[in-house]
Amino acid sequence: MKPTDGIPSPEARALHGHAPTAGSDEQSLPAVRTPRFKLDSDVVLAANTRLQLDECLARIRHHRTIYSDWGFAAVDPLGRSSVINFHGPPGTGKTMAAEALAGTLGIGFHHLGIAELESRFLGETARNIQAAFQIAHDTASLLFFDEADTLLGARLSNVTQGVDNEVNAMRSTLLIELERFEGIVVFASNFARNYDEAFRSRISYHIHFDLPDLVARRALWDRMIVPGIPLAESRAGLIENCAVASRTLSGREIRTCLRLALPKALLEAGGSPVHAKLRWSHLQQAIADVQRARQQVGRSSMPSAGESGSQAQAALDLLGV
Ligand SMILES: Nc1ncnc2c1ncn2[C@@H]1O[C@H](COP(=O)(O)OP(=O)(O)OP(=O)(O)O)[C@@H](O)[C@H]1O
Ligand SMILES: [Mg+2]
Repeated sequence: MKPTDGIPSPEARALHGHAPTAGSDEQSLPAVRTPRFKLDSDVVLAANTRLQLDECLARIRHHRTIYSDWGFAAVDPLGRSSVINFHGPPGTGKTMAAEALAGTLGIGFHHLGIAELESRFLGETARNIQAAFQIAHDTASLLFFDEADTLLGARLSNVTQGVDNEVNAMRSTLLIELERFEGIVVFASNFARNYDEAFRSRISYHIHFDLPDLVARRALWDRMIVPGIPLAESRAGLIENCAVASRTLSGREIRTCLRLALPKALLEAGGSPVHAKLRWSHLQQAIADVQRARQQVGRSSMPSAGESGSQAQAALDLLGV
């Protein structure tokens, strides 16, 4: 991808509320990308989650009407930015939905995990955060902080060590930047409850991502069993069986089931792609494998004889769960 691929159109910039910035350094933009997903076509969401996202979208799209024409800015001066928090269990589509939100708005996607921000050099993490906001501003991109629990946690009191100072500096910088920023920021986390009150109050939307219910699981299986996969049984029947059997599985785990089931179909056909066909028994076994891996990790929170947490996690990693 060219470094400029993620830079949105002038319309997208206008939507985002930014004037183009002269002379921005395009060398430093490789982390901004053109979103691969859209909310309507790619993300399966529970009705309640979707409604909350639609409200976010309406606020962003009709920002000028609400804040300028209707004058709401008089009582909500911080409303220039949209700060959104996606929280919920692993694998429920938070990262994907953030990218799809950018895709639906037609703007670039600037994705930052803690690995991109963290630095062992004192003061560097805070500078990385400033740079991230600057890039998002210059490219009018959606700024996405993945694994945001560490970032948004309560600031530490009685700081004595350098590392704690660094964490506090990082969080203070984030607060300042959030205050100044005029675009869209999305945070994602698994443990939203640890958030510092200062952050919580600056977030306009807290959107919870649930594990998929039966209707959502049907849609997820339908999406994951892509049309090119040869089936030995009726598609509708397979989807129904899978949706019922995969209770408690996340979207990511459903994808893992397919990853495990497809080689089973090929193996059964002696490795012949011409004869291989996916059937319920392959999917059933794959679902059982994923559920078993899940239970092992559940037990590993209290390590017992013969099984350490790290072993169980390794098993899970191997399965891609
Ligand atoms: N709601 C969903 N709709 C469509 N696909 C999904 C959904 N949830 C998960 N998936 C599939 O699982 C993959 C992983 O999901 P994603 O990384 O977005 O989850 P997450 O909630 O961000 O997880 P984590 O909390 O571990 O970061 C997606 O790329 C997609 O293939
Ligand atoms: Mg994620």
